[in-house]
Amino acid sequence: MNHRNDFPILEQTVNNRPLVYFDNAATTQKPQVVIDALTNYYQTINSNIHRGVHHLSQLATEQFEVARRTVQQFINAPDANEVIFTRGATEAINLVASSFSQRFLQTGDEIVITEMEHHANIVPWQIACERHGAKLRIVPFNETGILQIEKLDELISTKTRIIAVCHVSNSLGTVNPIKEIITKAHAHNIPVLIDGAQAVSHIPVDVQELDCDFYCFSGHKMYAPMGIGILYGKRKWLEEMPPYQGGGEMIRTVTFEKTTYNDIPFKFEAGTPAVGDVIGLKTAIDYVNQIGIENISTQEQELLRYGTEQLKTIDGLRIYGEAPHKSSIISFNINNLHPFDIGTLIDQMGIAVRTGHHCTQPIMDHYGIPGTIRASFAFYNEKEEIDRMVEAVKKAQLMLQ
Ligand SMILES: Cc1ncc(COP(=O)(O)O)c(C=O)c1O
Repeated sequence: MNHRNDFPILEQTVNNRPLVYFDNAATTQKPQVVIDALTNYYQTINSNIHRGVHHLSQLATEQFEVARRTVQQFINAPDANEVIFTRGATEAINLVASSFSQRFLQTGDEIVITEMEHHANIVPWQIACERHGAKLRIVPFNETGILQIEKLDELISTKTRIIAVCHVSNSLGTVNPIKEIITKAHAHNIPVLIDGAQAVSHIPVDVQELDCDFYCFSGHKMYAPMGIGILYGKRKWLEEMPPYQGGGEMIRTVTFEKTTYNDIPFKFEAGTPAVGDVIGLKTAIDYVNQIGIENISTQEQELLRYGTEQLKTIDGLRIYGEAPHKSSIISFNINNLHPFDIGTLIDQMGIAVRTGHHCTQPIMDHYGIPGTIRASFAFYNEKEEIDRMVEAVKKAQLMLQ
């Protein structure tokens, strides 16, 4: 399987070396078909949707709604109207944290999240707690980076209103047992939001099989353009939740005395949406489906295995997150060298990794470190690139020690 040539950006050199792009957890590169879909949209049918009777508007509306059905099938949502377009995972989580809480959260209530969440799945809930006088309860993880879900039983109470947890940790790579968490939560009638930002491009997701109440993700981490994301929500919740933003599209009638709201999904899609990006997302999903998410996963697991093995040959290197069920993310440090210094030096050798806290400061606090170096692989990466990274890290280590 070699689809590397589908990604024109990977052909370039950086600092006179062929680019090695290992920052896929931050954003993936875009295949030519997605770039073409964007260009084609703006060259041929760009127009505003849903409101126009003219030809271009009808074409754009049709493609927009086809894209919604493509997303529906991709995650096996029961109904396309349960698929809401947002700007990304962050906006999807904020939407639920704001609207769900407005309707269902009261003083003294509790929200359960985990110690390994991205800030995008912490801060919106903190804001909701501040607004409504509620409290956050945190499921910890152990040294290996595995959630201690046995603690969930102690943390869940009659005050718990919602549980929000990531499917895959962006810093540790851990794939969480979300099905088990959802089953536990539902036994207490508690809904569950899954932050799937790091999952959808790596593993098959079936929201009906999971029975999650909400599932959020971003297009740009799965080969689609930036600026588009998805909130899947069960109809029963979405219908009860008040709108997140007001404006055009989300209304049925407006008078100064009273406004009535549109049905879902439009109730949550105020204003002109990112039509071109939505079409780009559809193209990215078609692309992933064509290759097969299982094939993508197999390739990435092999890169993870090889990368872990090779990195471990480096003296003093420690990997953070060694759960048996992991996605293709390796976070590491070398002795007490600062991750930023290593990242900067290997960038000089054409290697793009992420350094820092990766928007997961509580994970860094858990280990008492300022940050990590994070290499995250996509299916278009190759073992030779891992060899180049390991060699570069060794060189950087020699320079810094
Ligand atoms: C686990 C996780 N959740 C949420 C987000 C936020 O995604 P976005 O910035 O695309 O909204 C990210 C991005 O890194 C992530 O890794």
